[in-house]
Amino acid sequence: MTPDVYDGLVDLAQRLGGMSLKAGSEPLVAARVAARLRALGLGSEAEYLELLRGERGSDETVHFLDAISTGFTAFFRESEHLTDLVERTRVAWSSGQRRFRFWSAACSSGEEPYSMAMALDTLFTGADVDWKILATDLSVQRLDHALAGRYGEAEVSALDPLMRAAYLEPLPKGDGPAQYRVAAQLRAHVTFRRLNLVQVPYPMRGPMDAVFCRNVMFYFDASARRGLLAEAERLLKPGGALYIGTAETLGNDSSGGFKRVGNAMFLRGGGR
Ligand SMILES: C[S@@+](CC[C@H](N)C(=O)[O-])C[C@H]1O[C@@H](n2cnc3c(N)ncnc32)[C@H](O)[C@@H]1O
Repeated sequence: MTPDVYDGLVDLAQRLGGMSLKAGSEPLVAARVAARLRALGLGSEAEYLELLRGERGSDETVHFLDAISTGFTAFFRESEHLTDLVERTRVAWSSGQRRFRFWSAACSSGEEPYSMAMALDTLFTGADVDWKILATDLSVQRLDHALAGRYGEAEVSALDPLMRAAYLEPLPKGDGPAQYRVAAQLRAHVTFRRLNLVQVPYPMRGPMDAVFCRNVMFYFDASARRGLLAEAERLLKPGGALYIGTAETLGNDSSGGFKRVGNAMFLRGGGR
């Protein structure tokens, strides 16, 4: 790939997806773009850039952004956030709250919102509580995976055996490796939507009790991060919790509306 074409793709990733690709990302971009060239039957990266910049570019934009954003995730990743979520929810519930709304803002293939759902369902078992999780991502491919709720042995192996037994159903075994599906009663609490976090304002209304926005901000430039944090603040109830990736910081991008209460855990002004 020529430097001009690479710079062009980096520029599009920045403008359309708010992603700031670090120096040294050339091999990753080249490999991901190569897959799109094969899918489209194109002969060069320059043609691909031309397509993205052209009139038909918007259709391909979704696939381009999908291809270059990585989607690593796992069940009960950074599990101290789930413990904190359950504790805060328990306190609000004990104080009489009966309606709860949660958001997984970059849900990838679904392990994060389903982990939230498992933790919350364990808390609320049998209780008359209206609770829902909105799960959003940029990537249509990952959202399809999430919606299907099917996972292989490797993905579910780290799950607590009680959680596995309660919330995963083994699928009939064919010739391939074992597969599991998240139980329908748990899936019913989670709604998946495509949302580009860089395009503010978001089409949702609050108040939300907690927002998980983990391991996505590092893709964004300062202005995209500021927009995201302002929206998280708008959507959260006073005292609502924001969880970010443990390798991320709010840095100077926070509008000042969040108070740090733990490792990558923050409360919107007004909480303790
Ligand atoms: C590393 S995964 C994080 C998944 C999960 N939050 C976790 O911490 O395990 C990052 C996700 O961010 C999504 N993403 C990247 N840019 C985005 C954007 N502009 N808007 C929404 N999602 C985005 C990717 O598609 C990917 O699924």
